[in-house]
Amino acid sequence: MELDYRDLREWLDKVEGLGELERKESVNLGDVGRIAERFNHLENSPALLFDKFKGYEPGFRLLINIFGSDRRIALTFGFPLDGDRVKLVRYFQKKMENVEPIPSEYVKSSPLFENKLVDEEVDLYRFPVPKWHPEDGGPYIGTGCMVITRDPEEGWVNVGTYRNQLFDEKTVGFYVSPGHHGWIHRKKYFERGEPCPVAIVFGSDPLLFAGSMIEVPWGICEFDWVGGWRGEPVEVVRGPVTGLPIPANSEIAIEGFSYPDKRREEGPFGEWTGYYGSSQRDEPFIEVKAVYYRNNPILLGIPPQKPPYDADKARQYIKSALLYNELKKIGIPGIANAWCFGVGGGRLLIAVSIKQQYPGHSRQVGHAVYATPQANYLGRYIVVVDDDIDVTDLNDVIWAIITRSDPATSIDIIQRATSGPLDPRIPPEKKEKGEFYNSRAIIDATKPFEWKDKFPPSL
Ligand SMILES: Cc1cc2nc3c(=O)[nH]c(=O)nc-3n(C[C@H](O)[C@H](O)[C@H](O)COP(=O)(O)O)c2cc1C
Repeated sequence: MELDYRDLREWLDKVEGLGELERKESVNLGDVGRIAERFNHLENSPALLFDKFKGYEPGFRLLINIFGSDRRIALTFGFPLDGDRVKLVRYFQKKMENVEPIPSEYVKSSPLFENKLVDEEVDLYRFPVPKWHPEDGGPYIGTGCMVITRDPEEGWVNVGTYRNQLFDEKTVGFYVSPGHHGWIHRKKYFERGEPCPVAIVFGSDPLLFAGSMIEVPWGICEFDWVGGWRGEPVEVVRGPVTGLPIPANSEIAIEGFSYPDKRREEGPFGEWTGYYGSSQRDEPFIEVKAVYYRNNPILLGIPPQKPPYDADKARQYIKSALLYNELKKIGIPGIANAWCFGVGGGRLLIAVSIKQQYPGHSRQVGHAVYATPQANYLGRYIVVVDDDIDVTDLNDVIWAIITRSDPATSIDIIQRATSGPLDPRIPPEKKEKGEFYNSRAIIDATKPFEWKDKFPPSL
């Protein structure tokens, strides 16, 4: 286990050493969305670092496609770069067993404060922010971002990736899906009639970003979780405006407030489901009071795309390992492997393989998967297969479904499960009423237990 980078710049040096960084200059900002779309969908494609956009100061850079190869994913998490996917899955599972959060540590200084714009000086138009998809409601500065809030009752800090539309040079959007931790924090402030203090990082090291985009349990700060992963505390500085902790190695950060009585039309935005699913709605937004950035700042762009895109490529490893360990912890025997497919954004299609041991075992596992935190929000299909199936291989899983399941008897349906505005399959009239439920199918694609030994032998 070796994590030998301390910030995004050191990570980029390593990536360049692997021959996986492409530098691009003087590209038209209007072309970046299309380029991102293309590279995010290529296998083993390089990270792209843009500089010298026309109309922007040289040195104001933009980085995309950070998780475009298994080698960069292994590098980010400190695993051997042997390029073996099956081994990488097991590295994640093993590592995840032992991540004990370590509280972050406050430091006094940070290169983040090399440049400060406060109150009237705040100007987010300095950063090259693309309109990522053709039908987006505008440019989005927050895609590879970390949104930091504090629970006003319980005091702990949450970090989540929640998109930020760039409304104007001093205002950004603040879309959070219902139930996400930042959404609950904000709701608590609003119910007290108070503004919600927010800090957002727009360029962080990739491990911190990874912590921000996954479901770390309620009450645990993602910075502490990443500290646990690194084996040392994440260094943070206290935001001068909000008092919120901001990682000292950040490239760009803002502080501001969201107000209970102020809303603005947000969206549409190309989302991880591959649709402009949540359309345009009134949402709370953030009035920015301060901007901080390093010299030659790097804005991190992780625009969602039709899945799988670069975030899915990393997320499928992390979410799958978390799910595998959650299932093991419940104490169900025979769990062989688990996989949250990138094509479903790590949510819509989940497969778990088991060594069947008793009647009802496979259904028990399917329902248990549904009950885990990993599979709650906006899931759709959970497939249980035998342990001769490679759950990371979409063909193998589909083969199991079409040859071992019987549609009339192998599928259990769960009604009124948790979904959200991004779900493209919720009818518009239900979305308008806030009825964000969907159904789930648990597909038992194992050989039927009672006659599995008489099942035709596989080739
Ligand atoms: C690129 C990207 C963009 C995302 N955008 C949003 C978003 O706009 N709103 C949201 O609620 N979740 C979004 N997510 C998902 C959340 O970041 C993720 O579910 C996270 O675990 C939520 O954090 P929480 O569990 O602390 O609430 C996004 C994830 C990624 C990778």
